[in-house]
Amino acid sequence: MRSVIDILDLSVEEINGLINTAMDIIANPDKYSSACKGKKLATLFFEPSTRTRLSFESAMYELGGQVIGFSDHKNSSASKGESVSDTAKVISCYADIIAMRHYQEGAPLVASMAASIPVINAGDGGHLHPTQTLADLLTIYREKGRLSDLTVGFCGDLKYGRTVHTLIEALCRYTGIKIVLISPKELDVPFYIKKCMNEANVPYEEVDDLEKALPDLDILYMTRVQKERFADVAEYERLKDSYILTADKLENAKSDMAILHPLPRVNEISVKIDEDKRACYFKQVLNGKYMRMALILKLLSETKGEKVDVKEGKTLLVNEIKCDNPKCITTTEQELDQVFKLVDSENNVYRCLYCEKKAKM
Ligand code: CP
Repeated sequence: MRSVIDILDLSVEEINGLINTAMDIIANPDKYSSACKGKKLATLFFEPSTRTRLSFESAMYELGGQVIGFSDHKNSSASKGESVSDTAKVISCYADIIAMRHYQEGAPLVASMAASIPVINAGDGGHLHPTQTLADLLTIYREKGRLSDLTVGFCGDLKYGRTVHTLIEALCRYTGIKIVLISPKELDVPFYIKKCMNEANVPYEEVDDLEKALPDLDILYMTRVQKERFADVAEYERLKDSYILTADKLENAKSDMAILHPLPRVNEISVKIDEDKRACYFKQVLNGKYMRMALILKLLSETKGEKVDVKEGKTLLVNEIKCDNPKCITTTEQELDQVFKLVDSENNVYRCLYCEKKAKM
């Protein structure tokens, strides 16, 4: 049985296979209209969503399946103190597959450890968002015809932007990728993402001037500065308008540059750009539904195998130190072991298994 918590849970071959399935779904939708007949998807959304939840639900309906779930945890027994693990065990009695979004980092991983059905991470706090990455990859593939030999610029909130983190992890496994990180210093990508690029020998540069960076880009991935991730509102107010893409700024960009954005947008892309042929963010929304259809099909076809042990093959510290990330699922989940995995044996660096925060030894 497979769960998808991180994009790295899928090999490059599997991602390419999902893209092929999505392309076949686009070409032959009728072939898939009863593929999930008799199956149920549970959408457990502990944090607001428009695209991810409704595209998962739309995906399951278009596969002939059914959907149960909640869009606000206040309407679930989580509001009475039920744990993520217990929720996952309960839902395993009702559904065949779970898509979970949670405001705590690592919550979908904890759900996958307790559930007896596959769990898909539909976004966990400022950590990861693998199915958005699948939408992004299909969009890049359909726009550029390839996932290699591309210069990709990421602009905006690269610190808390889970879609940025996951897409960089995915792109690092393709050849000829160059990355340009465009952000204020305060919203720089986390260390573990830089480590990922370094280990994959993916060249990257960090700049703060969007206009100067634009002419080299094949893909511009814009992001929103996310108010909900800031502990300090004044800091959000100071940074929120760091980058606003307007039509005049695009004059020096390539004529075939693709502009992506995971959405929702606030003001970081002018609505006038929506008419520009380079604007791909609404196509990206539709591509998300096709990739989620492909992923549901894949995971439901693999439910008979052994459950993957997420701790396997890692050198672990168990209950020797405590994660100090206030957004980590370990802060609230009852009797959850504090698990740290060794990620850099040379420098003896351990990271929390659930949220990837570095251990303070
Ligand atoms: N891109 C994305 O995750 O959008 P939602 O928050 O609306 O699901």
